[in-house]
Amino acid sequence: MKKRTTVWLPETLVGGSLRKTPLPSWGNPMQADLAFPQSLAEKYRPVRIADFIGLDRAKKVLSAFCKRPASGAWLFVGPSGVGKSTMALALAGELQAELHKIPSQKCNAQTIDDTVRHCWYAPMMPGGFHVVLADEADQMTNAAQLALLSKLDSTDPAPNTIWIFTANDTERLERRFLSRCKVLEFSSYGLAGEIAAYLDTVWHAEGGNGNAPDLGRMAKDSRNNVRDCLMRLEVELMAL
Ligand SMILES: Nc1ncnc2c1ncn2[C@@H]1O[C@H](COP(=O)(O)OP(=O)(O)OP(=O)(O)O)[C@@H](O)[C@H]1O
Ligand SMILES: [Mg+2]
Repeated sequence: MKKRTTVWLPETLVGGSLRKTPLPSWGNPMQADLAFPQSLAEKYRPVRIADFIGLDRAKKVLSAFCKRPASGAWLFVGPSGVGKSTMALALAGELQAELHKIPSQKCNAQTIDDTVRHCWYAPMMPGGFHVVLADEADQMTNAAQLALLSKLDSTDPAPNTIWIFTANDTERLERRFLSRCKVLEFSSYGLAGEIAAYLDTVWHAEGGNGNAPDLGRMAKDSRNNVRDCLMRLEVELMAL
């Protein structure tokens, strides 16, 4: 098992404010002191649950969950670029959990078995948790969903294991799979103003001048996809 150490990031702007943030070395991929440039979406990736723009309900629910964590499965559903995967990493970080990422398109019966075996046998700190993150769960095959059924209920659960699946919608997901997950909606509806204010902070932190692009328009054009907005802002900054 990887040794768990805590690294301190240099001061980084997170959720609009400067702060120093301890990160588990395996957890959040945000590493502000990398020698090579990062995309703005990486550099400004929120670290703590409270750091996200909007998502009030998700933040409330997950903060409460962190106070009394328990094994089980979550499904984070919502449009692209609103923070589903990043929230899973933040949750793992706050729980100081051992993170296992199942790459998208690799969530098959074999990978599920291997991951569960690891959760059974990897030594953990007493009271510690495993967080298994499976992105793009809506692309899972039926066989994978069926393989998960017994792992997600009381038939054959791995100890101290929290599964987090992310998906853009639930159409392709089996009812029996869905009924084993706590479903949390991630919505960025009505957040254009907040996103524009956030982009303005980033714009100035990145040396943008007074001629900022129309950030409200940018948020609306991207349908409040924060990742898209940061990508667009990056191009605008390069054009200065
Ligand atoms: N609510 C948010 N607050 C602050 N930053 C955000 C938020 N949502 C997304 N971001 C930014 O967008 C980036 C991408 O977010 P993330 O990958 O978590 O989105 P996602 O919902 O998982 O998208 P997808 O469905 O495409 O996988 C993050 O690294 C972060 O910089
Ligand atoms: Mg994602």
